[in-house]
Amino acid sequence: MSEDPRETGDDEPEAANSGARVSVVRPPYAAEVFEEVKRFYYSLGPEFDIFHLALDQIFESKILGLLWSRDGRVAGVAGVRARYGVWMFFMVMRADHQGQGHGRNLTRTVMGGVPPTRLVLLTVQRSNMKARKLYKSSGFVTINRHKGQVTMLYNRGIGPWLRLPLIVAVFARNLFVSHLAG
Ligand SMILES: CC(C)(COP(=O)(O)OP(=O)(O)OC[C@H]1O[C@@H](n2cnc3c(N)ncnc32)[C@H](O)[C@@H]1OP(=O)(O)O)[C@@H](O)C(=O)NCCC(=O)NCCS
Repeated sequence: MSEDPRETGDDEPEAANSGARVSVVRPPYAAEVFEEVKRFYYSLGPEFDIFHLALDQIFESKILGLLWSRDGRVAGVAGVRARYGVWMFFMVMRADHQGQGHGRNLTRTVMGGVPPTRLVLLTVQRSNMKARKLYKSSGFVTINRHKGQVTMLYNRGIGPWLRLPLIVAVFARNLFVSHLAG
C-alpha cells in the first residue's frame, strides 16, 4: 500500500472538479504532511483572517482532511480537534479553490471518519453566510448565537429533546475543566 498522503483511498472521494484529490491523515503526521500544510497555511490570503486557528492547533487534529491540487500542493484543510472532550470541526480553503465543491467534499470526508458517539461542534462568524450554508446542508444545526458567533452541532438524528440536555452537559463540563485549568 502506498504511503503517499496524496493518494486517495477507495472510500475517499475524488474532488468533483480540477483533478484535485482529497486524502485523510491521522496523527502522528508525516513530515511531508507537516511541511505541505505549513506551506499552505502561510500562503493563505484574506481567508486567513476568517479562519482564526494557529498552525499548531491544526496538528492537534484527530482527523485531518487535505485537498491536494493538481500540482501536488495542499489547497485546503479540514479537521476535527478535541476541546474538553468535544470535537471541534474547522476548515479553510485557498481562495482559488473555493466555490468548486471542495469544501463540501472535505466536510463529508472528515465527518465520515468521526466515530458515531463523538459530539462535533463548530463555531463560525454569523456574517459568514457561505460557510454557514455549507455546514447546514452538510448536517450541522445551529445551537447557539452569541456575540457575532454561531455554534453548530453535527446532527446525527438527535432529537431536540435530547440535544438540549446534551449541550448543557457539554458546556457545564467545559466550564468545569477550564476552571480547573485555571
Ligand atoms: C467556507 C469554505 C471552507 C467553503 O469552501 P468551498 O470549497 O468554497 O465550498 P464549496 O464550493 O464546497 O461550496 C459549498 C456550499 O457553500 C455555499 N456557497 C458557495 N459559494 C457561496 C457564495 N458565494 N455565497 C453563498 N453561499 C455559497 C453553497 O451552499 C455551496 O453549496 P452548493 O453546492 O449547494 O452551491 C471556504 O469558502 C473558505 O475557506 N472560506 C474562508 C475560511 C472560512 O470561512 N472557514 C470557515 C470558518 S468556520
